[in-house]
Amino acid sequence: MIFVTGGCGFIGSCFVLDWLRDQQEPLLNIDALTYAGHPGNLEAAAGNPNYHFVHGDIRDKSLMRDLFQQWKPRAIVHFAAESHVDRSIAAPSAFVDTNVTGTVNLLQAAQELVQTLPPEEAHAFRFLNVSTDEVFGSLEPTDAAFSEAHRYQPNSPYSASKASADHFVRAWWHTYQLPTITTNCSNNYGPRQFPEKLIPLVIHNALRGQPLPVYGDGMQVRDWLHVSDHCSALRAVLAQGRPGETYNIGGRSVMTNLDVVRGICAMLDELRPRATPHAGLITHVTDRRGHDRRYAIDDSRLAAELGWQPKMRFADGIRQTVQWYLDNSAWVESVTSGSYRQWVEQQYHSRAAR
Ligand code: NAD
Ligand code: TYD
Repeated sequence: MIFVTGGCGFIGSCFVLDWLRDQQEPLLNIDALTYAGHPGNLEAAAGNPNYHFVHGDIRDKSLMRDLFQQWKPRAIVHFAAESHVDRSIAAPSAFVDTNVTGTVNLLQAAQELVQTLPPEEAHAFRFLNVSTDEVFGSLEPTDAAFSEAHRYQPNSPYSASKASADHFVRAWWHTYQLPTITTNCSNNYGPRQFPEKLIPLVIHNALRGQPLPVYGDGMQVRDWLHVSDHCSALRAVLAQGRPGETYNIGGRSVMTNLDVVRGICAMLDELRPRATPHAGLITHVTDRRGHDRRYAIDDSRLAAELGWQPKMRFADGIRQTVQWYLDNSAWVESVTSGSYRQWVEQQYHSRAAR
């Protein structure tokens, strides 16, 4: 069987559902169900005999050790993390606890298991660490896209915590020969993304006629990767990636934030017309502190070694995503109660319109 951590979050839930659809191998999902984890994301897995769930925290070292000893997985795909840059700016400590210490707990628990395995099973074990392109820092307009060799230069508490985790993952390979692989992917989008991130936040606010907050001039550049493409890349890396290696995963859809927001507005004008165009709701607000200007991914290693490339064009992916949010208002209602409202209040009401 395999372990997944953070399977009740946005990307993890896509990975779990795709896995159960396509593979016959059991999967155990370990998730602490923080504000970002929703059991409802995995409703479709309920009753599947290959699906197992433990409500557990990766910061709990002895629980992680017990789970590895009890279930003896052949691999772990590690998603669990505090994942939002703005929250890391507001309250960084949780990012150290989960993203760094939690990852080290998993590495230790995996290593303790692997050292008891016969050599061929130990060799075949995989620790797949799901990381981000944000560890590389920010690119100037004319810089080449991030390759795997790009220097780590994290700029936010979030990216510093992910970079730190990546270094520990590398060290466990180098020092203990634990077969680890790290992937560094670009911004994901798609169904079930928590509406604190740009795309679901904009859809959510636009549908309510609320301001669409664009940080600074909105000319920051991101490469948008559809979550289902990301999960297919992770399956390819798990199956064929080389231990000790890192792989960049991108969507080949590079856009400014303002273009993304305008695109969503145009789509909603078509699908949910209102008296005035949705773009009229765009509001430039105070920029994020230390805001990275540009990310871009060179995914040629993944393409050359594993023959992977993204399938979803952004125009199709964003249409499908907007439609998903229109069709799943009950999900949106359930995840935007209580603590979400507090977050929005704290984040945006103090951000004066520029
Ligand atoms: P998410 O915030 O939607 O979900 C995180 C999940 O982890 C939730 O289910 C949460 O309950 C769980 N979790 C958090 N702390 C935990 C803990 N201490 N113990 C156990 N479970 C815990 O995140 P996401 O967007 O799905 O991201 C998944 C991974 O991908 C993260 O490691 C993130 O850094 C990385 N990543 C995300 C993106 C993106 O665009 N979303 C891009 C690059 C990399
Ligand atoms: P986000 O979805 O938080 O992802 P990341 O910070 O990991 O790239 O933000 C994507 C981009 O959108 C980023 O440049 C910040 C910007 N942004 C806004 O302009 N307004 C918002 O309300 C949010 C949440 C993000």
